[in-house]
Amino acid sequence: MVFAMMEDKWNFDEWAQSYDEDVKQENWIHKDYKKVLKLVAEKAKGIVVDIGCGTGNILRVIKCEQYIGVEPSGEMRRVFKEKWGFEPVNGHFLDILLPAETADTVITTYAFHHVPDGEKENAIKEMLRVLKHDGKIVIGDVMFESEEEKRRIGEEDGIAGEIEDEYFATVEHLREICERLGLEFTFEQINRYVWIAEMKRTTR
Ligand SMILES: C[S@@+](CC[C@H](N)C(=O)[O-])C[C@H]1O[C@@H](n2cnc3c(N)ncnc32)[C@H](O)[C@@H]1O
Repeated sequence: MVFAMMEDKWNFDEWAQSYDEDVKQENWIHKDYKKVLKLVAEKAKGIVVDIGCGTGNILRVIKCEQYIGVEPSGEMRRVFKEKWGFEPVNGHFLDILLPAETADTVITTYAFHHVPDGEKENAIKEMLRVLKHDGKIVIGDVMFESEEEKRRIGEEDGIAGEIEDEYFATVEHLREICERLGLEFTFEQINRYVWIAEMKRTTR
């Protein structure tokens, strides 16, 4: 069942209508929102699968052979269809509901932090399943270097409560996962909060 692992505490269905207005506020999570979408889009090529695509804002900037959105919230999918004239697949990080080796690039922006830490490795394995052998995963999201950094920044910026409400990844944890799965990886810090992680299978 598609919604089995998706927590609804953030109420994505209700957020769908106001989402595009909210991101324009550029609060700390969405600081440099447009820039981040553009940077992720520039790294994508060929057949692109976008997990947690929301209302599809990346379509404003992405150039690729084919774009497939994956989105568990029915209302997000509805707003997406209203804007773009086609509908995303009703799937989620642990069950993308696409055949194996569909994508040249799997991208995700501002959605990976909804995956609990204990499920992040399985989410990466599921992204690898739908990725062609020489494909690449690109994750643009709020992340912190380590748990210690997460606490420090949370306290300094007065956002500790907001940070605790989500499952923001640490670069340290993702590095460990990549090493276990034998992936090559890079992490690029875009601002105080947002990083772009790229992962691909080792060619050696
Ligand atoms: C903050 S929005 C980001 C939307 C879009 N990617 C963007 O950058 O504007 C997060 C999206 O992730 C979706 N989402 C939440 N949990 C998810 C999961 N487990 N798997 C896939 N998508 C999920 C939500 O429904 C929502 O549309």
